[in-house]
Amino acid sequence: MNVYDSDRMAASLRENGYWFEPNLTEADVILINTCSIRAKSEQKVLSLLGQLKPLKDKKPDLVIGVSGCVGQRMGRSLLQRVHHLDLVFGPDSVERVVSLVEGAKKQGKRTVDTQMDAPGRTYSQPAIVHQARPSEFLTIMKGCDHFCTYCIVPFVRGREKSRPIAEVIQDVEKLVAQGTKEVVFLGQNINTYGKGTSENLAQLIERANSVSGLERIRYVTSHPRDLGVDLIEQFGRVEKLCPSLHLPFQAGSDRILKRMSRLYTRDQYLSKIELLRKACPDISLSTDIIVGFPGETEEEFEQTLEVARQVGFAQCYMFKYSPRPGTRAMSYQDELVPEAVQDERLKRLQAIAVPSSEAENRRMVGRRVPVLVEALDKKDLFYSGRDPYGKRVHILNAGQACLGKIVDVDITESNASNLRGYYVGAPRINRGLETRLSASL
Ligand code: 5AD
Ligand code: SF4
Repeated sequence: MNVYDSDRMAASLRENGYWFEPNLTEADVILINTCSIRAKSEQKVLSLLGQLKPLKDKKPDLVIGVSGCVGQRMGRSLLQRVHHLDLVFGPDSVERVVSLVEGAKKQGKRTVDTQMDAPGRTYSQPAIVHQARPSEFLTIMKGCDHFCTYCIVPFVRGREKSRPIAEVIQDVEKLVAQGTKEVVFLGQNINTYGKGTSENLAQLIERANSVSGLERIRYVTSHPRDLGVDLIEQFGRVEKLCPSLHLPFQAGSDRILKRMSRLYTRDQYLSKIELLRKACPDISLSTDIIVGFPGETEEEFEQTLEVARQVGFAQCYMFKYSPRPGTRAMSYQDELVPEAVQDERLKRLQAIAVPSSEAENRRMVGRRVPVLVEALDKKDLFYSGRDPYGKRVHILNAGQACLGKIVDVDITESNASNLRGYYVGAPRINRGLETRLSASL
């Protein structure tokens, strides 16, 4: 979501005569778009701001701004704490980025804008499309009504609001006209998209499925309570909906799930998994897990391990619980799990999650899969993209002509995080060169 917001701010600024300056020391405006989901991400923002101070000292008219959830949460106090900071604003102010930057630049005003949207169930935010990529994020809603007790999102992103289906579909068509093949719909709690209106996510998926030229549809993030049978049965039936789903379970113990206010039990979670696998037997599942929630006992943690073992996720994102100011779990702070215990639990969970990802990826070796080629890798060695299951595939012999296309790839190798293989439409490169290149990945 932050990537999407950053792109949107960049696009608005570009339309008003600004351009992207890759060299930080040359920039006239530096905006840091931030996340406050865990304390660590906030600390990173503060340390980055510290690093920028010498630039501001050298160039006093440089504008430095903090946007996103840290801006929303800390507001004026951030401006008071960091004297070389000019601008602080939150996620609902993304649309006002140009006037905020101009105000700071031309009038030298130090500004805070944490005004949130007026209440309502819908909002409008048509995409600003400049150069569409093969796979594009598309935010279709904002906010969250769940208030899980550990989570800061509802406080910094407000109540749930959805964009109308007609507007989202127009965005999809605009993107497809510029070459996009895959859209990833984004929402904090995407299953309840359309809440308070006559529209819902299942309808949006059906509509997107009929956009000609669009090849793939994905969405994140689902909530086990809100993932209804109408959404489950679309997997395996709706042609363009990819066979992959991110379904956070957070904890395996019913007592902890209740304390987290997750509104489902372990068995209810596992029955959703069963239904998903019935609808789409080869669906690839990923999840989020929090270890060391306040009061989590050894036995309760073992139940988390058990769920991870039982489901066999393709990917687990694992986090140590991090106390967030203002959340309900702050009242459990006298039961904090010591950091050393959290670290130890994280390691034990990784010892299940990593082999599970390896096994999931290994089952792809020997198969031919369609890969949407997205970009050259960081080291500019190979083109890579994703298969329908969402797995990253490095293609050892693809050329630039493959970029932005869906091409067939024979998978020859795998590890816990990605796959490698050969594009079937070009000769395989010689084995010696391949070994050297692979070794350098
Ligand atoms: N501490 C640790 N992890 C958290 N998450 C959200 N809030 C916290 C927190 N306070 C994790 C959840 C969520 C993911 C996006 O971040 O697992 O699904
Ligand atoms: Fe946070 Fe997700 Fe819970 Fe909403 S559903 S409060 S975003 S963890």
